[in-house]
Amino acid sequence: MLTRRQFTNGSAAIVSGGLAGSLIGAHLAQGESVHFTRRLPIPPLIDAAKQGNAVKLKAASGRHAFIKGKPTHSYGYSGPVLGPAIRLRRGDEVEMTVENALDVDTTVHWHGLLVPGDVDGGPHQIIKSGGMWRPRLRIEQPASTAWFHPHLHHDTARQIYMGLTGLIIVDDGSDTNLGLPRTYGIDDLPIIIQDRSFDTDGSLLYDRAPDPQTIQYGSRGSTIIVNGVVHPVAQVPCSLVRLRILNAANAQNFDLRFSDGREFRVVASDAGFLSASVTMNQLRASPAERFEILVDFADRKPVMLETGPDTLMGIFGAVSPDGSGDFVSILRFEPTPAVGTVRDFPARLVEPATADSTKAVRRRQLVLDSGICGGQRPTEMGMLPGMCINGKTHDLARIDADTKLGTLEVWEIVSIGMAHPFHVHGASFRILSLAGAPPPAHLAGWKDVVLVEDKAELLVAFNRPATREHPFMYHCHILEHEDAGMMGQYVCA
Ligand code: C2O
Ligand code: CU
Ligand code: CU
Repeated sequence: MLTRRQFTNGSAAIVSGGLAGSLIGAHLAQGESVHFTRRLPIPPLIDAAKQGNAVKLKAASGRHAFIKGKPTHSYGYSGPVLGPAIRLRRGDEVEMTVENALDVDTTVHWHGLLVPGDVDGGPHQIIKSGGMWRPRLRIEQPASTAWFHPHLHHDTARQIYMGLTGLIIVDDGSDTNLGLPRTYGIDDLPIIIQDRSFDTDGSLLYDRAPDPQTIQYGSRGSTIIVNGVVHPVAQVPCSLVRLRILNAANAQNFDLRFSDGREFRVVASDAGFLSASVTMNQLRASPAERFEILVDFADRKPVMLETGPDTLMGIFGAVSPDGSGDFVSILRFEPTPAVGTVRDFPARLVEPATADSTKAVRRRQLVLDSGICGGQRPTEMGMLPGMCINGKTHDLARIDADTKLGTLEVWEIVSIGMAHPFHVHGASFRILSLAGAPPPAHLAGWKDVVLVEDKAELLVAFNRPATREHPFMYHCHILEHEDAGMMGQYVCA
């Protein structure tokens, strides 16, 4: 049996033995020798309103070349990998038809859509292999970038790793009013960032039974893919371009910047626009977080998007994807002579719905920890680490919290051991404090994911119902932590 202490010692040994060789597989050469020649794939757009608000998705396996010339087994929605971007209009009701052509069961969760628990697509709404699911979704929320992905308990991490991830664009007309770039695929680009480990033949390396190391730190890959491919290049108009950044990695935090240090403006986070844009030159996106940024390519100079070492790996310290400890280039931008239509935009964006923390009806504390919490599963290798919230590992039959529809609560989230990206279904929140301090401006809007390094206070707004049969989840979005039980469920009535 592996105790927590022995496990930690084992981890330390791996560090001294060279992290790049064990936790992270062989890496591709970076820098001068690498040519970013592959066009950035743009997922097809489904504009729901233009097809009678009926949208069909089919989860199936396929073949896709993440690495050029090396096609391999993958999963995707209505295509070999990833899925379409679905544009939904506020005020509409959409009928989704999801077909499961995979050889395993799945679910489809609408991460960021504020819909009732029975259509949320969590672990209770299983779509059997060969089966079908037809939820009706009423879109009643501000413009935002959301996404969809599987949520089958104990298999979420692997299914997403295999490629099941799609983008959702909620449209309420505010970007038209503000004059923001909004021509999909031209000056409004989806940027889905993930890390993967590949075998020499280009196949994905993901173990159906991850080892304790992978569970403890989440699955981390040495190669970064953007919209499903390695080393892409995006051609952009030489004007303002909007990037909808989604960190869809299993565990990795991306620390994004441009190779020339240029500034960009953050205009939206998970649940909608900020009240005003925030100028930055480096932005951290943790798993499941979304940021919309505006970048000016008027100087017509090609530039690289880079990501830095993940500095939040607990005892491992800072680790960059390729093991070098440095920033790595992940996507090249090449401005074309074509001038886009948008050259500037108003300083004020959208005033967020107010959130008055004095109106909170109760306070809860949730402690995210790993170790001995009854969640350990025996294997030949010993015991896998348990992942828990308040000492309990996930139980699909247990309701952990009761909330009242239309109320606000203060949730205090405490991370033990390493930083955990905490997510709540069916609700959005404002960050009241991070480690005791007010949040930076780009994290001050409505969100549904927060990276908690030690402690965070959230003001959560409960406005959607969920029953005991179809409760909402809250969990760590490091997918291996979630699958291992760092998840709870709540009802709302
Ligand atoms: Cu992105 Cu519970 O999920
Ligand atoms: Cu969610
Ligand atoms: Cu976690």
